Amino acid sequence: MIKVEHLSKHFGKVKAVDGISFDVNEHENLVLLGTSGCGKTTTLKMLNRLIEPTHGKVFINNKNIQEQQPEILRRGIGYVLQNNGLFPHYTVGENIAIVPQLLNWDKKQIQHRVSELLEKLHLSKDYLNVYPNELSGGQQQRVGLARALVADPPVLLMDEPFGALDNVTKAKIHAEFKALDELKKKTIIMVTHDVQEAFELGDRICLMDRGRIIQQGTPTDLLFNPRNRFVEGFLKEQRLLLEFRAITPPPPPEGGTLRLNGKVLPPDVSMWWVMEQFKFKGNESISVYDDRDKEIKKLGFEDLMLAFYQYKQQKTHE
Ligand SMILES: Nc1ncnc2c1ncn2[C@@H]1O[C@H](COP(=O)(O)OP(=O)(O)O)[C@@H](O)[C@H]1O
Ligand SMILES: [Mg+2]
Repeated sequence: MIKVEHLSKHFGKVKAVDGISFDVNEHENLVLLGTSGCGKTTTLKMLNRLIEPTHGKVFINNKNIQEQQPEILRRGIGYVLQNNGLFPHYTVGENIAIVPQLLNWDKKQIQHRVSELLEKLHLSKDYLNVYPNELSGGQQQRVGLARALVADPPVLLMDEPFGALDNVTKAKIHAEFKALDELKKKTIIMVTHDVQEAFELGDRICLMDRGRIIQQGTPTDLLFNPRNRFVEGFLKEQRLLLEFRAITPPPPPEGGTLRLNGKVLPPDVSMWWVMEQFKFKGNESISVYDDRDKEIKKLGFEDLMLAFYQYKQQKTHE
């Protein structure tokens, strides 16, 4: 859906972005990960033409974005700015309604859409007439997201959307983010410097350094097939946690189910999630059931750890 070819941006002698290429599939969430100054924001702004590239091309839906009017292009691209970028002198309602106003929606339609989004993003209607600085950081982020989603654009660009939040709020918003139906049909490029966030939310990750992409791949690609020392070093401190989050339990046999303490496990749970379910009371276990609802295998916490260890061994030697 999005194709970036040899994209560069030079500011005088500074190569902010230095010949990067990547693709994003429809409905995929691609994360640009890297430390401050590596070129993430500049890359994002070239995708909606807030910055014009020095070299290279961008195609969205097979159309070269250079050949489109920037205003028309941006109608199809929601943008969540770094530090939320809300207008301080506009109320929450006015901030969210900016794009629909530009598009001349009628008043009723705007009201309806704004209330719908407030509800989906767990914001009370009482905030409609409140100014952004009266809200908590988490609430401001939600308003920023609502503003980007309001006209239902197929593409969403998010620049450090959760960067300013404390860890507890961040974890909560991550969970909501993953559950939000409006986001499931979007093609998303998200920028972050937070490794855990990248692993939690990204289908694929481009790890950047000094304007270049050092490696792109799935979280498990980066963990188990790092291209070089830089990638290894970047993930080193949080490695064990990242592994637990990136690895999912093996699928059950055909027609069978995996259950933990009686509950069927959803298909995309991480090892970490499973571990968290163990309350370490009595003899808890995960059970594998066959299609006639007959228990065929029981695994305790230690069995799980052993399976994890074996999986890692196998991955590292692939
Ligand atoms: N308008 C600009 N003029 C000059 N240098 C810039 C400009 N914008 C960004 N840069 C430089 O480009 C590099 C990348 O910046 P940026 O894309 O904002 O990085 P990131 O978002 O990864 O922190 C930095 O060295 C920054 O100082
Ligand atoms: Mg930035």
